Amino acid sequence: MSQTGKSDVVVLGELNVDLIANNIEGPPEMGKEVIARSFTTTLGSSSAIFASNLSTLGTSVTFVGRVGNDGNGDFILAELQSKGVDVSNTIRTGNRDTGVTVVLSYGEDRAMITYPGCMTYLCDDDVTDDVLKSSRHLHISSIFLLPRLKKNLVRLLTRAKRLGLTTSLDPQWDPAERWDLDLDQVLPLTDIFLPNRRELEFLTGTSGIMNALTRIGDGNVIVVKDGKEGAILWDHGTTFMQRSFLNEHVVDTIGAGDSFNAGFIHKYLVGEPLNECLKFACLIGAINTTAPGGTAAFRDMNAVRRTAQDLFGISI
Ligand SMILES: Nc1ncnc2c1ncn2[C@@H]1O[C@H](COP(=O)(O)OP(=O)(O)OP(=O)(O)O)[C@@H](O)[C@H]1O
Ligand SMILES: [Mg+2]
Repeated sequence: MSQTGKSDVVVLGELNVDLIANNIEGPPEMGKEVIARSFTTTLGSSSAIFASNLSTLGTSVTFVGRVGNDGNGDFILAELQSKGVDVSNTIRTGNRDTGVTVVLSYGEDRAMITYPGCMTYLCDDDVTDDVLKSSRHLHISSIFLLPRLKKNLVRLLTRAKRLGLTTSLDPQWDPAERWDLDLDQVLPLTDIFLPNRRELEFLTGTSGIMNALTRIGDGNVIVVKDGKEGAILWDHGTTFMQRSFLNEHVVDTIGAGDSFNAGFIHKYLVGEPLNECLKFACLIGAINTTAPGGTAAFRDMNAVRRTAQDLFGISI
């Protein structure tokens, strides 16, 4: 494994392929069979979608993750590389296979089954000080899928801060629904916290975005994604709201939150004010919904610019 090269962002997170069934004729039922009228195999995982789309936006990215020695691992690494993501710090684990998520997509909602495979072995030691030192920002996603990383999350964030990096964390869903992330310890080490509304509510044991934010207190920057409603930015007690950019023809919303994160962190690292980061994030989230899966709308920057102009009337 090489741990060299310079990147703006080091992404630490889960890697898997997505097997996405779309246009399904009704809900699945035990003992029965339903037909899906379209099907895609694509780069999955919150972290990989984030890394890939951030790279397309023009921020350089290195990925620290784990894939198996199998075809799905080859596919993931090739997809990331084709988007310009440095995968020289991603580990191929010989004795376990690559994670897979089966997605049953129904318009703006979906049900997912994840086989974690070797992603569960990702730990904080997988990222060296040298890799951290050669980056400006550390992004971590899907912490509940990464038990060994979660155990030492505070240690990793502390190391990143000591080495001068800014940090962001998207907790993503907790499949065990325990929501046992110690926000009191984690948030002071996290420059930008990026949950969605439901995740924030479960993490704080509160209902309603404002109640949850008030409960956490005003010491942080928290960006709460709220689907087609848009998003709310909490900047040390001051709130900014951003309506979503209306997409009349949503293909699916897979990866919208990860693309949103990519838009936010891209502008954050350019040094834009946080409310501008929020607006751009919502635009990138909306662009995500115009094509299947999390990366199809981000083939290259020309495609992104065209979609922003043609569908949302915004020039970027
Ligand atoms: N139907 C939509 N139309 C326009 N924009 C949308 C739509 N759905 C999502 N977005 C944009 O994408 C952002 C993130 O989406 P969402 O709230 O679904 O994140 P999430 O739940 O974290 O998603 P993910 O499943 O990718 O983790 C929203 O804040 C919004 O700006
Ligand atoms: Mg999300």
